[in-house]
Amino acid sequence: MKLPFIPKDAPFTGDQKSWLSGFLAGMQSAKAIAGSQTSVAGASTAPLLNILYGTQTGNAEALAMDAAVAARAQGFEAVVQGLDDVTIDAFSAMKRVIVTIATYGEGEMPDNAGLFWESIYSADMPRLADMQFGVLALGDTSYDEFCQAGKLLDTRLEQLGATRLIDRLDCDVDYEDIAAEWINKTIPLANSGHATLPVVEVAPQVAKSIWNRKNPYPAKVSVNRLLSGPSSGKEIRHYELDLADSGLTYETGDALNVMPVNDSVLVKNLTERLAVSPELVLKDQKKSIGELLTYQYEISTPSRNLIAAVEAQAKHEKFSHVLKTGDKEALADFLWGKDTLDLLNLNSEIVFPIDEFIALLKPLQHRAYSISSSPSKHVGSVHLTVASVRWRGEDRDHLGVCSTFLADRVTVNGTAGIFVSPNKAFRIPTDDDAPMIMVGPGTGVAPFRAFLEERQMRGAKGKNWLFFGDQTRDADFIYEQQLLEMQAVGVLSQLDLAFSRDQKDKIYVQNKMHERAVELYQWLEKGAYFYVCGDATRMAKDVDQALRDIVAVQGKLSADKATDYVNNLKREKRYLRDVY
Ligand SMILES: Cc1cc2nc3c(=O)[nH]c(=O)nc-3n(C[C@H](O)[C@H](O)[C@H](O)COP(=O)(O)OP(=O)(O)OC[C@H]3O[C@@H](n4cnc5c(N)ncnc54)[C@H](O)[C@@H]3O)c2cc1C
Ligand SMILES: NC(=O)c1ccc[n+]([C@@H]2O[C@H](COP(=O)([O-])OP(=O)(O)OC[C@H]3O[C@@H](n4cnc5c(N)ncnc54)[C@H](OP(=O)(O)O)[C@@H]3O)[C@@H](O)[C@H]2O)c1
Ligand SMILES: Cc1cc2nc3c(=O)[nH]c(=O)nc-3n(C[C@H](O)[C@H](O)[C@H](O)COP(=O)(O)O)c2cc1C
Repeated sequence: MKLPFIPKDAPFTGDQKSWLSGFLAGMQSAKAIAGSQTSVAGASTAPLLNILYGTQTGNAEALAMDAAVAARAQGFEAVVQGLDDVTIDAFSAMKRVIVTIATYGEGEMPDNAGLFWESIYSADMPRLADMQFGVLALGDTSYDEFCQAGKLLDTRLEQLGATRLIDRLDCDVDYEDIAAEWINKTIPLANSGHATLPVVEVAPQVAKSIWNRKNPYPAKVSVNRLLSGPSSGKEIRHYELDLADSGLTYETGDALNVMPVNDSVLVKNLTERLAVSPELVLKDQKKSIGELLTYQYEISTPSRNLIAAVEAQAKHEKFSHVLKTGDKEALADFLWGKDTLDLLNLNSEIVFPIDEFIALLKPLQHRAYSISSSPSKHVGSVHLTVASVRWRGEDRDHLGVCSTFLADRVTVNGTAGIFVSPNKAFRIPTDDDAPMIMVGPGTGVAPFRAFLEERQMRGAKGKNWLFFGDQTRDADFIYEQQLLEMQAVGVLSQLDLAFSRDQKDKIYVQNKMHERAVELYQWLEKGAYFYVCGDATRMAKDVDQALRDIVAVQGKLSADKATDYVNNLKREKRYLRDVY
């Protein structure tokens, strides 16, 4: 993304100011700020440190909370807010700012930072000459646009004349320790020009779960049931995991992370290809090669370092061409469906000493799943709805690591390591009377099963409308019985179904939204919340467009005004997405 150029000494004109005030009129500053900050700057004389976060699944928010605790302990008044909860007027007045921000989609801002980014990206954004800032970027080096949201924000703040307290930190998946170190280094720097601050004891505001990425809870998998029918082209499964006396709690809308174990057949094939015994224990290692490849490293999706190292030996014209021309799409096409073993097999002469090979791998990561149960209905249990990823390529069967770990490798009553990622931005309305519209094709229905169960348990009177779909009604109408029962008892007021392959022309959920446009718009006008869950790359984008088109036609609005309407839904936290 190209940033608009702003000369360092660009004047801040009255015109720009009035344009901005108009543009931001809908941002409801007082409400937004009061709604999400954890501490309000009052009469305190302590220097104010604003800590802002952009998050999708909570990591950046948790770091912002950690930073606030550390800042308060060092005598600051720390105010924590989501980026979209900040008005540009309030932001422009900030003097010391720390931003923690994740990257989503393909190098995009997380959902709770999109409107903020649009505003500060505008060429009319006022200069921020009095601001000192630090950006902590979260990301994952497996993505092309590593930490892109943090990079864009960091550059933009500099362009606007703000001064860095410290260089940006770009974190890969193993971020906790380096992020904590950066926070501890950055906070004292925010105090330049002030007297030494008194150190105060501050207890963390929210007790953290003892179960986390580094210490997952070994939950018993008590149910593994196939949801899709025998003729389905997919395999979608329902899992139930026991929380027993773990103390692990969750809310509807949260995600459950599952720590997978690799497939033993792939480990065996890899060690054979690398001509190494799985029993071998490398110097300075406690675990054998077999154990490392089974539990500790990602051996399915090749890392960037491995891709580069293999290319250097592969003597494979097409591979070298797509890698060296930097054509990301062609490279993605070439790599599609190839795992680490397929890459090694590109040429039988590719050789790696085992320690070098292991150094090229990334740590094995948990996978996130939208929780599909209500904790009020299923006390002590958490449910998942997972599509098993399996494909055939290079004459071998390939298995998605975590979905098939759950499907094939955890026996019923066996255990899986889990921890919860709270998703405070994806909750049912606090107002039980508010209507909800939910769009969740395929496994995207998962959190909506949970939402409906929760509303049923609460006896909420608000109307609920679900758009669901998948390939065929016969084989892919997952949770059919439960959804129809909910419809029969009135919990589900409207159910619109889009089975894409039951007729010649595809019918998708957004087609159903168009068919019901009049009523959908009426619901929105009556304060309905609009939720989307499932595939980010295609479905969520098309549903977003359908929503804009419906608003424009039904509200008789220009495209710009329809965008304002949808942006307002986002500001009011009535347009919420959990897309992946
Ligand atoms: C917040 C969040 C919530 C989620 N919720 C859910 C949920 O409720 N249910 C759910 O099922 N998933 C959900 N997911 C997705 C889930 O986290 C995993 O990404 C998914 O299960 C695949 O993981 P895996 O380890 O099985 O596959 P991996 O080992 O990670 O393999 C996936 C990779 O395999 C390759 N691949 C996949 N299919 C093919 C093919 N046909 N041909 C060739 N190559 C292929 C692609 O490169 C793909 O990236 C969610 C993700 C997020 C971020
Ligand atoms: N990025 C991709 O290319 C891709 C592709 C498939 C799955 N996935 C991922 O696979 C996982 C599981 O997928 P899933 O089985 O839950 O569901 P899914 O593959 O998203 O399919 C659910 C339904 O959505 C339909 N669909 C396809 N394109 C659509 C679009 N543009 N707009 C609206 N609906 C559309 C499908 O129809 P048809 O299949 O008949 O077209 C199907 O009926 C998710 O993580 C998803 O993101 C990604
Ligand atoms: C669907 C999806 C897309 C992502 N896209 C990117 C990306 O383009 N670049 C990147 O560096 N990281 C990407 N990430 C990784 C996240 O930024 C990383 O997991 C981060 O820790 C999430 O923080 P959060 O919990 O605050 O949202 C992506 C993660 C997911 C699940």
